[in-house]
Amino acid sequence: MNKPFSQACEENKDPILKVLKEFIDYKKKRLLEVGSGTGQHAFYFASHFKHLEWYTSDIKDNHSCIIEWSKESNTKNIKGPLKFQAGVDEFPRLQFDVVYTANTLHIMSWKEVKTLLKKFGKHLRQDSLVIIYGPFNYNDNYTSESNKSFDRMLKEKDPNSGIRSFENIHNIMLSNNFKLIKDCEMPANNRTLVFKKNHKCLNTHFIKT
Ligand SMILES: C[S@@+](CC[C@H](N)C(=O)[O-])C[C@H]1O[C@@H](n2cnc3c(N)ncnc32)[C@H](O)[C@@H]1O
Repeated sequence: MNKPFSQACEENKDPILKVLKEFIDYKKKRLLEVGSGTGQHAFYFASHFKHLEWYTSDIKDNHSCIIEWSKESNTKNIKGPLKFQAGVDEFPRLQFDVVYTANTLHIMSWKEVKTLLKKFGKHLRQDSLVIIYGPFNYNDNYTSESNKSFDRMLKEKDPNSGIRSFENIHNIMLSNNFKLIKDCEMPANNRTLVFKKNHKCLNTHFIKT
């Protein structure tokens, strides 16, 4: 089987890696990636964090690509794929220091998104990170014409999907004891949101770049 190759993944891998390197230090030992897709990103990123166990996950139908990458890769710290579909499966039982997910919140239904964010609040310890990459709307506005067309295309395919509101995500994360520590501009009108779990989330200041 030929591994599928995404040009978009190739182009955004280094900008995302730069943000990951800013936050994933040597104290972080285990990461869960939600919605790993083909695994193209996972194998690249994991090779840059040798101290970290990088757990891939996705719905069962997508596991074959990840397994294919595993066969050809020398990256020893890649684990999984775990079967995890937000809204369907129990959250994986291992203790994770970081959850990373890219281009998934606009694919899942809003109900699944809410379930997933709530699980982060329930299962992650204090100081754990949640890093979310993808397009977001701000103050009910698209950040670009291309995001507007993308959203229309998503909804034509599946009315339950669509670009999510930054404010909604932020509010749910706050109510689950996560503080936003970075909201970073990324290429092609995407963002990376970095949240950290706190005991109390009284301070809502964060860095927007
Ligand atoms: C657009 S792909 C992104 C793949 C990869 N993260 C990337 O950036 O290239 C969206 C992924 O989300 C997964 N997905 C969709 N609904 C999901 C859910 N409810 N829980 C977990 N993953 C889901 C899909 O199976 C798919 O692999």
